[in-house]
Amino acid sequence: MNLNELIPLITNEVTTDWAHTQLHLKLPQQHQLHLISDIGKHIVRGKHLRPLLVLAVGNILGTCHASHHLLAAIVEIIHCATLLHDDVIDDAPKRHNQPTAWYEHGNKASILVGDYFFAQAFRWIAALKDPLVIHDLAQATQIIVAGEVQQHQVRNKLDMDAGTYFSIIQAKTAELFKQACHLSAKVSNASPEVTQACLSFGQALGLAFQLQDDLLDYTSDVSGKTLGQDWLDRKTTYPLIMAYQNQSFTALIESAHKDQASVTEITALLEQSGAFELTRQKISEYVDQANEALDTLPSHHLTDLLTQLVKTLEHRVY
Ligand code: IPE
Ligand code: IPE
Ligand code: MG
Ligand code: MG
Repeated sequence: MNLNELIPLITNEVTTDWAHTQLHLKLPQQHQLHLISDIGKHIVRGKHLRPLLVLAVGNILGTCHASHHLLAAIVEIIHCATLLHDDVIDDAPKRHNQPTAWYEHGNKASILVGDYFFAQAFRWIAALKDPLVIHDLAQATQIIVAGEVQQHQVRNKLDMDAGTYFSIIQAKTAELFKQACHLSAKVSNASPEVTQACLSFGQALGLAFQLQDDLLDYTSDVSGKTLGQDWLDRKTTYPLIMAYQNQSFTALIESAHKDQASVTEITALLEQSGAFELTRQKISEYVDQANEALDTLPSHHLTDLLTQLVKTLEHRVY
């Protein structure tokens, strides 16, 4: 089964809860300012993995209530805000097989609407009224943005170490997956053990997800994004780090150009160096960790679907 087929199955299991969450998410799409509503409609075309994780965990641990619905909307709107900013920073012209917001409406519009989305998140976070959850969401938002800042700081650096890479992806991506699962468990009043298992699951899934995204950046022509964008934008990710550390490839990588025509060349180098295989192995390690955490959750049809999700993510192409 691929991700395309699995997401509707998960959505089906949480239909009513998802409808409640969508009522929140529709708000910016109905804004009277057309830039907010246009960009709002555009950016919500994603896979909705993070809100679905909130609702799935909530259902596995009991029943979802209003706080779960709001939490699901919050993690999605924070995600959308970061993407609006990220596509400007990464100079990425395409997402969901469509021109990105900045490409269509300009950098200024994309940044401003990203800010508006963050502000929407603040209002929803305040409405949660639980100081511990509010604290974790505020901290997570800061960690995510710091991850993007750190990534920007090391752009152009080919000799990056794996430790720096993992610190970046932990912050910019895994943090939100982690909190989606962790806070859903917290809002469900789960035991400390179960809450920790949910946190570990989200964390491992998030790391695997970003590693996979970085692999697909070079290998998938159906991701809906530009092939080789990370190379074109001088972003050093795990496959490139692994190839660069292979001494037979260091000089070849250093002398490769950064233009569109060089993408095929660098992709071939990464393949020959074994870097893609090393990336797949790393993904498998986090997949195993995610599965281990899932094993300790109550048995439920949605727990089985999450197990399926982990398996599917390992082989996703979009
Ligand atoms: C994209 O995330 C950003 C990364 C963390 C790699 P998604 O692939 O979940 O984005 P959408 O929401 O489906 O577009
Ligand atoms: C984005 O990582 C992570 C955040 C937006 C916080 P990427 O830059 O790899 O995501 P894509 O490839 O643009 O979706
Ligand atoms: Mg990007
Ligand atoms: Mg990417």
